[in-house]
Amino acid sequence: MERAYDIVLFGATGYVGQLTAEYLAAHAPAEARLALAGRSREKLDDLCRRLGRAELGVLVADAQDPASLKALAAAGRVLISTVGPYTLYGEPLVEACVEAGTDYLDLTGEPEFVDRVYLRHHQAARAAGVRLVHSCGFDSLPYDLGALFTVMQLPDDVPIALQGFGSASGAISGGTFHSAVTAMGRLKESGRASRQRRSTERHADDGRLAEGRRVRGIAGRPHREPLAGGWVVPAPTIDPQHVLRSARLNSAYGPDFSYSHYLVTKRLTSTLGLGLGLGVVVTLAQLPPTRDLMLKFKPPGTGPSAERRARSFFRVRMVADYGAGTERQRLITEVTGGDPGYGETAKMLSESALALAFDGDLPTVGGGQWPPAVALGEPLIRRLQRAGIGFRVVERSG
Ligand SMILES: NC(=O)c1ccc[n+]([C@@H]2O[C@H](COP(=O)([O-])OP(=O)(O)OC[C@H]3O[C@@H](n4cnc5c(N)ncnc54)[C@H](OP(=O)(O)O)[C@@H]3O)[C@@H](O)[C@H]2O)c1
Repeated sequence: MERAYDIVLFGATGYVGQLTAEYLAAHAPAEARLALAGRSREKLDDLCRRLGRAELGVLVADAQDPASLKALAAAGRVLISTVGPYTLYGEPLVEACVEAGTDYLDLTGEPEFVDRVYLRHHQAARAAGVRLVHSCGFDSLPYDLGALFTVMQLPDDVPIALQGFGSASGAISGGTFHSAVTAMGRLKESGRASRQRRSTERHADDGRLAEGRRVRGIAGRPHREPLAGGWVVPAPTIDPQHVLRSARLNSAYGPDFSYSHYLVTKRLTSTLGLGLGLGVVVTLAQLPPTRDLMLKFKPPGTGPSAERRARSFFRVRMVADYGAGTERQRLITEVTGGDPGYGETAKMLSESALALAFDGDLPTVGGGQWPPAVALGEPLIRRLQRAGIGFRVVERSG
């Protein structure tokens, strides 16, 4: 079907949406047909004026109005959504994209949403040849692509125990806070979706592991870790879910692959503070009155200033122990960049969309819900390297 646009960005007037619109306007090839979409025409027109790009398409749609989503999904070849919390707003748009035959990308860090999309839309997306790719921002590209980059340096036939250590500085947006608190208030629903998914995937022809292969997540414990330069604590983020699924789907991760995932803090006191802060937010998120009160402190649409973003950074260090017995060796790699949550996230999301829309050398996965490393893989790593995100080998030993 002939489409009016190559890429449509829904949520363009939000905090990360505006940064993504700026990135696309500045870096998409001249021939790319771009459209900005959101629920307010006035805000969208204003954004086009600020970007100095009056020729960009403008599409009005509401996440709660299925007819408008249907028209939105049919307008482009690739649809990006930055409308969150995805658990509350995301699914009708995914459904509209599958029906319209439009590839879909987002920034979600909400495991329940990803599992629900798998359970309800993966098979239809496979049949329709539509790629559904979640978490194309700091959650989870540096980890998912960092793991792929690491295994690409290793032989295919060795056991690999991989540890990911993430350090970052930066402040979070109101939208991220709302999405995180929404997810923390739905732990029961999230657990149920995860169990249903595991049992469905065990029987699916594209989820089962090849005979003889083993892929495991390993829950680490807090400890001092010289390899990461500080204290590390297991992180309850969506990243390991993507890393492990990529490993299940790609035999290059070897016959026996394990992954553990940590956040790095400089001091033990920061680790304890982080755990305590998270515990308080999770507790307050359980009851609607305390949840609503908490949400008032960080309204959607707000986020760190440009100065704050300019001082922010991330570093994801991957440590792979591979081989067996006396042959055991170690490889350390790093993925690095600037402001993780917003500046670099806008870049990662935009480059993912440009790859889906224009790159002829992407892995041929067909339709379905795929982790970024499976759907976009090495071509996306090369794009991100050209865009200034570091992927490098730090050390080989053994
Ligand atoms: N993966 C990552 O690393 C990463 C990084 C950053 C953000 N995120 C996620 O990205 C999402 C957006 O974050 P943000 O900080 O940009 O949030 P935000 O500023 O609150 O933006 C949310 C956007 O959703 C739009 N929206 C809300 N309800 C809508 C509806 N019913 N119909 C149409 N549009 C609607 C808003 O429209 P208006 O502009 O009209 O209000 C706004 O454009 C969050 O879920 C966040 O967690 C993920």
